[in-house]
Amino acid sequence: MSKKTLLAAMALTMGMTLQAQTHDFVIQTKKLGAEIQPTMYGLFFEDINYAADGGLYAELVKNRSFEFPQHLQGWKSFGKVSLQDDGPFEKNPHYVRLAYSGHPHKHTGLENEGFFGIGVEKDKEYRFSVWARIPDGGQASKIRVELINTKSMGERQAFASTELTIDSKEWKKYQVVLKSPVTDPKSTLRIFLRSQATVDLEHISLFPVDTWKGHENGLRKDLAQKLADLKPGIFRFPGGCIVEGTDLDTRYNWKNTVGPVENRPINENRWQYTFDYRFYPDYYQSYGLGFYEFFQLSEEIGSEPLPVLSCGLACQFQNPNEEAHVPVAELQPYIQDALDLIEFANGDVNTTWGKLRADMGHPEPFNLKFIGIGNEQWDKTYPEHLEPFVKAIRAAYPDIKIVGSSGPDSEGKQFDYLWPEMKRLKADLVDEHFYRPETWFLSQGARYDNYDRKGPKVFAGEYACHGKGKKWNHFHASLLEAAFMTGLERNADIVHMATYAPLFAHVEGWQWRPDLIWFDNLKSVKTVSYYVQQLYATYKGTNVLSLTMDKKAVTGAEGQDGLFASAVYDKATNAVIVKIANTSDKAQSIALNFQGMKKKDVWAGGRCIKLSSPDLDKDNTVENPTAIVPVESPLTIEGQSVNVEIEPNTFAVYILNK
Ligand code: AHR
Repeated sequence: MSKKTLLAAMALTMGMTLQAQTHDFVIQTKKLGAEIQPTMYGLFFEDINYAADGGLYAELVKNRSFEFPQHLQGWKSFGKVSLQDDGPFEKNPHYVRLAYSGHPHKHTGLENEGFFGIGVEKDKEYRFSVWARIPDGGQASKIRVELINTKSMGERQAFASTELTIDSKEWKKYQVVLKSPVTDPKSTLRIFLRSQATVDLEHISLFPVDTWKGHENGLRKDLAQKLADLKPGIFRFPGGCIVEGTDLDTRYNWKNTVGPVENRPINENRWQYTFDYRFYPDYYQSYGLGFYEFFQLSEEIGSEPLPVLSCGLACQFQNPNEEAHVPVAELQPYIQDALDLIEFANGDVNTTWGKLRADMGHPEPFNLKFIGIGNEQWDKTYPEHLEPFVKAIRAAYPDIKIVGSSGPDSEGKQFDYLWPEMKRLKADLVDEHFYRPETWFLSQGARYDNYDRKGPKVFAGEYACHGKGKKWNHFHASLLEAAFMTGLERNADIVHMATYAPLFAHVEGWQWRPDLIWFDNLKSVKTVSYYVQQLYATYKGTNVLSLTMDKKAVTGAEGQDGLFASAVYDKATNAVIVKIANTSDKAQSIALNFQGMKKKDVWAGGRCIKLSSPDLDKDNTVENPTAIVPVESPLTIEGQSVNVEIEPNTFAVYILNK
């Protein structure tokens, strides 16, 4: 045998030995550990990447109220169109006046480009609505509403068209339904004035009739369904940085987002310009998806709502100067906003804000239990600002749980300062954020094992593995998130909530990646990270079980061959669920030894769900949405122990039914 062949044979033998070496996991089934909170896994929603307008919020018209600072942004006008500013909606006073051109062959009208076009589907219905009047009174006037394909080589650009008669001198809402005979992801809305009488138009809107749960001011069905499919226990909204604002004027003000949609003033979206290398000059928040809709969605997808409000500090990244923030002595209106929000969510219908909720269609309370104050804040100024909120909320609503922040970093000076401060202020939960690279995720399997059990609970409120030099969605990043999450699960006594971030991204309008769900105007896709979240949420169980290897938790520590694992028991299904991430590039044999089972006990059945990809750089895309999906197979079980083989770079969930 040549030296080379001998070495190859040795390597092969060693490799086989490594692969054959069985890891003995011991899972304690008798002693139930900490209860897993129903809120454990959930959603973080922020209007970034066109997540709301142009995304989840199903409105297809951009700048429908002509309130963008450039009032006709998103519109093209032709003929005699003028902008007016004495409209029927106090907070949105602008509208357009369409007048006869003076010649029957010269047209007056408007076109709206939508959000990266207007996506419509064959045989689906779209509700066009508009507030309108004939300002001069007299004879009725007509407009023609069309969906057009400007790139069409056919005889006509319009593929759906209808006429609407405007018959009143007073402002009135008109609506008509258009059925699309074609699928077109990038159509345009065109409106022609069809008579000689002048017409005023305001709040021009187009929605699919078939929205999530059929709400008229509704949500895109495929996107909302993907949220529901995640089985979220908690739903944090409305962000992130947009809570704080680039300055206090642009902070998220929930009071502007409730009441009739026509009278909700727009707000600049800070993600329009935060990264000038991904600049979107037409990115505004219409607030059509506002706090009522957020609460309603929470309820419909079965999660607890967690609104986050400004603590009077504008984004500290963008405003190092003290004057940008509200002095503590002047915080009262902000505190009142928080108290009023609780009243809006939970108050009796006879209270001011409870009545508004009832008027909007929800007399029953939304049962708000949590509120976040401040997002990524830091320095002494944050606890100083938070304290009066805590006092006021505790005094008025002692049962509401308050979420404070540990700043933007996963560790370090600010983090170390803020945690004890949150403890001092008796925050119920502390929001931690970590957008970190592979090495960080691989090193954090035991992050919470030694956390102070007497302090506030943890809300891992924003996290995602941002691959070093690979800051986009790919399988490896998702696998490491899965590995890290075993540590969340094992520590469910103190980790009460965890939400990946951000949630949504439009393929043509993103500012930040990776994200959980990508979409274009018609399609959407679940990423591998989505499936990781879904597997955890679906199989979260009710109680933690101790799982050890050589008497140690399996946290990817040295000598553990890149394995991360956790186990839970689920009372509802009487199942033991074991989650294992094999982050190594070797297959691993694992013996699952269940302790505490009686001799006569046998498993009634078992199955395994795996997420795996030979190409670590790959993910699902809107073009190829099922490249990597969870694959389920039955488990062969003999006796009480279960021997499993887990492939390289694989996340596996084993479900064993008693
Ligand atoms: O998720 C994107 C941003 O990341 C959030 O707005 C902010 O809280 C964090 O910096």
